[in-house]
Amino acid sequence: MKDIIRELHDRRDDARLGGGQARIDSQHAKGKLTARERVELLLDEGSFEEFDMFKTHRCADFGMEGTKYYGDGVITGWGTINGRMVYVFSQDFTVFGGSLSEAHAEKICKIMDMAVQNGAPVIGLNDSGGARIQEGVASLAGYAEVFQRNIEASGVIPQISVIMGPCAGGAVYSPAMTDFIFMVKDTSYMFVTGPDVVKTVTNEVVTAEELGGASTHTRKSSVADGAFDNDIEALSEVRRLVDFLPLNNREKPPVRPFFDDPDRIEASLDTIIPDNANTPYDMKEVITKIGDEGDFYEIQEDFAKNIITGFIRVEGRTVGVVANQPMVLAGCLDIDSSRKAARFVRFCDCFEIPILTLVDVPGFLPGTGQEYGGVIKHGAKLLFAYGEATVPKVTVITRKAYGGAYDVMASKHLRGDFNYAWPSAEIAVMGAKGATEILYRSELGDPAKIAARTKDYEDRFANPFVAAERGFIDEVIQPRSTRKRVARAFASLRNKKLTTPWKKHDNIPL
Ligand code: HXC
Repeated sequence: MKDIIRELHDRRDDARLGGGQARIDSQHAKGKLTARERVELLLDEGSFEEFDMFKTHRCADFGMEGTKYYGDGVITGWGTINGRMVYVFSQDFTVFGGSLSEAHAEKICKIMDMAVQNGAPVIGLNDSGGARIQEGVASLAGYAEVFQRNIEASGVIPQISVIMGPCAGGAVYSPAMTDFIFMVKDTSYMFVTGPDVVKTVTNEVVTAEELGGASTHTRKSSVADGAFDNDIEALSEVRRLVDFLPLNNREKPPVRPFFDDPDRIEASLDTIIPDNANTPYDMKEVITKIGDEGDFYEIQEDFAKNIITGFIRVEGRTVGVVANQPMVLAGCLDIDSSRKAARFVRFCDCFEIPILTLVDVPGFLPGTGQEYGGVIKHGAKLLFAYGEATVPKVTVITRKAYGGAYDVMASKHLRGDFNYAWPSAEIAVMGAKGATEILYRSELGDPAKIAARTKDYEDRFANPFVAAERGFIDEVIQPRSTRKRVARAFASLRNKKLTTPWKKHDNIPL
């Protein structure tokens, strides 16, 4: 027995070495942690249970028969994050560049199947050269098996991807179908085809960083939801995110202890709206003053900054926040902000996370750039997402709510449950200047008359009371009591049930 146990330990030690000490050193020299070190940091200490530690590839081509490593380039298993179960796979770049073989894919598929069956999130730590070139179609098949599972798990369990090295080819499509993608600055890349292929095919010369680095994907393409300085920060932010999420679509998000009075009055909000309607203010201040202990976990912070998305807690319970940001493009809706917010609203709706919408929007951004880019379809995504969402929806209009954007931003008509407005709210088809110029075109030559018309329009429509008279606004509330009103609203909606007609699935404008 002693010898057998010694053999087990020897094999385990062998497996733990991955592709060998030299490759581990090279991984460290690049400022990257190894696949195992990452798992240890992600999970609660000592909680990791590994599967398939001794699995190897079955390839006999290109001299592969003689090169086998235990684990075949991916470490899989389950563990806990703050006591809650998650499944994890972590690709080992020291073994064939973390490339995906048939056996490697089988390991990932096994834990994905278990995650769906047992209702727990899957977290993928990606560091891979893509399909294992030596295995040909077997590795392509392996990818497709993973993709199919990503699709089936979507909306059932949260799926989170962390990109922690080069991810090329097939290695980017599985993350693309997960709920959140985080990247590590300067050491992680995502591209379908790398810089060399780009040069060959298009003659474009571009660095890996420019083509698919963290900055590119968090600022330009919006493929990634967040970028962090190093592996340690990225993994600790994943832990923070998981704390906001339910384990699956049949469970509520966790309730955390809170030390912030839900009835807290925030007098400073009474003066946050500037006297001049065109002067911006920071909507993030409103968000942090509503949430418990000022904690806000922002998603896609660097993309489409004219809309803010992220999570807060109210009375210890997760709330998804969507808010126009008057500091950027005056808070206009456009293609990017609509797409960003729509995806976030749909995530919240999948996972029973109530949505708080803070509105200060002068309308959709006009112009050929937007129209040619399909703002109609992209704006409709957000409209569609809000309208189909059956989770509790609480809306607060702080200032402008003009035109179609009023309808889109979780209005009463899209089944908003509580629609509040501050006294500073202005709800109308368009701003006073634009409206009078259309209604009184014949008087445009007379500035005094137009000024009087504009003033009259402002007096009549630049307020929340016309909407309140019709019941489109449930209550005009004092800014200072927003946290209290929002907390009470969500508390009253905890047992909300709203069913929609049976359908196979909807046909959201993609
Ligand atoms: C097998 C691979 C590999 C791969 C890397 N390696 N990628 N082995 N299959 N796909 C091996 C290398 O041979 C090397 O082995 C080790 O991993 C480390 O790779 P290096 O090139 O030395 O590292 P680095 O310079 O950091 O470059 C990393 C890299 C590069 C950018 C990922 O290796 C690369 O471009 N790889 C190929 C990427 C690619 O085109 N993949 C296929 C995509 S097609 P040794 O023994 O020397 O240490 C695809 C189709 C799926 O994925 C489509 C589904 C929709």
